[in-house]
Amino acid sequence: MADVVLQTERGSGGIVIGDDWPGYSLELFSYPAHYAGDLQCVVVPHGVIMDRTERLAHDIMDDLGDHDIAVLCVLKGGYQFCADLVDKIKTLSCSSDRTIPMRVHFIRLKSYLNDQSTEDLHILGEEDLSFLAGKNVLIVEGIIGTGKTLKALLKHVKAFQPKMIKVAGLLVKRMPHNTASVPDYVGFEIPDRFVVGYALDYNEYFRDLNHICVISDSGKMKYKI
Ligand code: HPA
Ligand code: MG
Repeated sequence: MADVVLQTERGSGGIVIGDDWPGYSLELFSYPAHYAGDLQCVVVPHGVIMDRTERLAHDIMDDLGDHDIAVLCVLKGGYQFCADLVDKIKTLSCSSDRTIPMRVHFIRLKSYLNDQSTEDLHILGEEDLSFLAGKNVLIVEGIIGTGKTLKALLKHVKAFQPKMIKVAGLLVKRMPHNTASVPDYVGFEIPDRFVVGYALDYNEYFRDLNHICVISDSGKMKYKI
């Protein structure tokens, strides 16, 4: 059986958003009225997410073009990024002489309560991933915070002996204890603040917001459980 190859050297770290970046005023963008007062600022506008995702699709195509890949979408926070990334890879596959046949699978993880990472990682949904044996796997995550979730997930996926594992993460947080692996494809490196939107939630709220925003203190209070 071939060894798992974890290739992380290509990762550029993504677009770096500095700790002193105040974000864009919410007044400059449209967002759902039901979230008025619940947000502090826009960190990454939707259009910028889409442009960056297009480039990541290009990079993935350059590296993996003509290989079959099994995309493993990490729910729920990764669904929007995964859908848009797959969409952009599909478009590129139509317009170039290279193509990536993709199958898309879903795995559900849960480790956050309010804005805190809990110790226990729950892997829900398709637990038997034996169909990944010998396959090139692209794990697609919305956000990598402490890195503990990704580390546990990699260990779980590796046990099914895929040929290769690559990871695409839209956001990677700069955190003091983030020692775990950095994804091969990173959209943005962001400060250690709790962000929501573009499928990222706070207790299941804010997935219906297009931009990636910082939640306000009153937003945290309002949706706390
Ligand atoms: N927002 C939403 N989900 C998360 C975050 C975050 O900032 N970090 C880890 N999971
Ligand atoms: Mg969540």
